[in-house]
Amino acid sequence: MSIKRIYDDSDSYEVGEDDISNIELTAHGNKKMTIYKVTYTDNSILFVGFLEHEVEHRNHGIKEREVLQIKFKELTLQNFKSHQDLKVEFGDTTQITGDNARGKSSIGESIIWLLYGTDMLGSKLDPSPDTYEADSTKVELLFEVDGKQTFLGREIAKGRNKFYVNEVPSKATEFNQVIEQLFDKELFLSLFNPSYFFTLHWEKQRGMILQYATAPANKEVFKELPKPQSDKLSELVKKQSLDDLVKIHRDNKNKKEKEHIAAQSRTKTLKEQLDQFGSLVPVSSLNTEKAQIEKSIKEYEDSIKDSVETNQRINFLNNKIDSLTVQIDQGRDNHTQLKAREINVNCHACGQELKEDSKQTLVDNKESELSKIAEQVNPLIKERKSLREELSSLEYIEMDEKQQEKKNQWNDKLFNIEHEMNRHKQLEKLNKDAKESAENEKTVKESLNDSIFILDAIKAFNAKEAELQAEKVQGLFENLAIRLFDTVKTTGELKPTFVIQMDGKDYIKLSTAEKIKAGLELRDVLSEQSDLITPCFVDNAESITKFKEPNGQLIMAKVEAGKELEVVTGE
Ligand SMILES: Nc1ncnc2c1ncn2[C@@H]1O[C@H](COP(=O)(O)OP(=O)(O)OP(=O)(O)O)[C@@H](O)[C@H]1O
Ligand SMILES: [Mg+2]
Repeated sequence: MSIKRIYDDSDSYEVGEDDISNIELTAHGNKKMTIYKVTYTDNSILFVGFLEHEVEHRNHGIKEREVLQIKFKELTLQNFKSHQDLKVEFGDTTQITGDNARGKSSIGESIIWLLYGTDMLGSKLDPSPDTYEADSTKVELLFEVDGKQTFLGREIAKGRNKFYVNEVPSKATEFNQVIEQLFDKELFLSLFNPSYFFTLHWEKQRGMILQYATAPANKEVFKELPKPQSDKLSELVKKQSLDDLVKIHRDNKNKKEKEHIAAQSRTKTLKEQLDQFGSLVPVSSLNTEKAQIEKSIKEYEDSIKDSVETNQRINFLNNKIDSLTVQIDQGRDNHTQLKAREINVNCHACGQELKEDSKQTLVDNKESELSKIAEQVNPLIKERKSLREELSSLEYIEMDEKQQEKKNQWNDKLFNIEHEMNRHKQLEKLNKDAKESAENEKTVKESLNDSIFILDAIKAFNAKEAELQAEKVQGLFENLAIRLFDTVKTTGELKPTFVIQMDGKDYIKLSTAEKIKAGLELRDVLSEQSDLITPCFVDNAESITKFKEPNGQLIMAKVEAGKELEVVTGE
């Protein structure tokens, strides 16, 4: 089977697009996954899997889905409301006529009661006769589903419900299951009774219309968006759903808005600090000045180092000379005393005059001692002389207070230079901080703008999707105008709604005949979209002069004054 197009929420392949030449259904899939073979114009082949519940495909020229047709054949009523015994045969059209209260509406009602146990609007119904005695109330319907006959029966006998499927007594659950498998209850009621749909809550109505009129695929919406928006979104939806993206970027937008305010204020503060920083002496001049001062300090310190040494030497020399003088004077005294002392020429013991040689020895001894003293003192005198000569060559240096003060000033200057150099470092840091802050502000702003862009794009996407969907839905109708969205004035966002109008009037304001016409158009659209064709029961058809016949069997009930109940079956 050749297919024109396959698509789900995010993916779409279409013959004639993206160099695709053919799409075929393969037998490789399973219950959950359908596998398609996509052939490109260069004969390359791609197998793509689509989850069954998400995928739709459109066939080339062939009617895309199988249509299910329900045809009523025969209805029998026993003791149903006023009908004691009635058999109705249905044709393509079935005309029920009769005066008021002849039981026309009851015929349509009996079918719904048989299927669902309710009246035509879905309310519980007990059709047991009030006006005569009867053991049981029973409705039986023979109908065809795509040519296959089914015979259903419902009965109330002595207050108990009984069910029959093809004449076999069945449990309620089995009976209900048979019907559920054939068609959806809401859908059937809407198709059978043209006024049923309008009694539903608007959300239910909207859901039903949209259920059968598929939403445009993301790809179709992207095509309609400005390129930057569609490029961005089509990339993002590969990882996250649009709903999640909205949550993420709303959150980020709030965060970044706050961060951006903080970042701006920091950049501003830093800029102010920079503006107020004032001028700086260039580093090169500071370095030159510093070197000069350090040199001066060193010279000064070197110079006072010499004078300290000289002064210390002078002190040392003076002390040394003093000490030598004491020793020299002592030696001189000893010499003088020894020299002056007369030699005793008599013996110590006997008092007799010593011999000549002994006398000579004494003289020699004295001379020798005197020479010894002279030998000791003379070097000291010599040393002292030399020291005195050295001392006389030295000059005591007085410490200069002015020089001291100058040194203090130099130190002060050095301190100032150091301070100025620190300011250079502070300025450097401030510049770095300001640059970083500006960069941070930029990054935050970019992230903020990105989120704003994405949120705007999603808003545009939603609006475009709604527009396309509305167009698509509206395209299904001829006389009815369908509104699916309302625009919220304050935010511009779209809010789901469901309003049906005909000729500019809300359904509720239409006349009886207009209501029937509107109902018939709506049920036909539902029928076409859901591929279910059912009979349609048009009650009070006398009120309407002309109407487009519904796509299934038409059962019409018309009042005709003074007439008994009559059912005429037409082909
Ligand atoms: N449980 C019941 N038992 C007996 N008769 C009932 C019961 N419920 C309703 N009826 C009566 O059955 C008759 C037929 O009603 P029905 O609504 O089918 O008539 P109708 O032909 O559609 O009338 P109209 O032209 O006014 O629409 C009415 O007289 C009604 O009061
Ligand atoms: Mg009626």
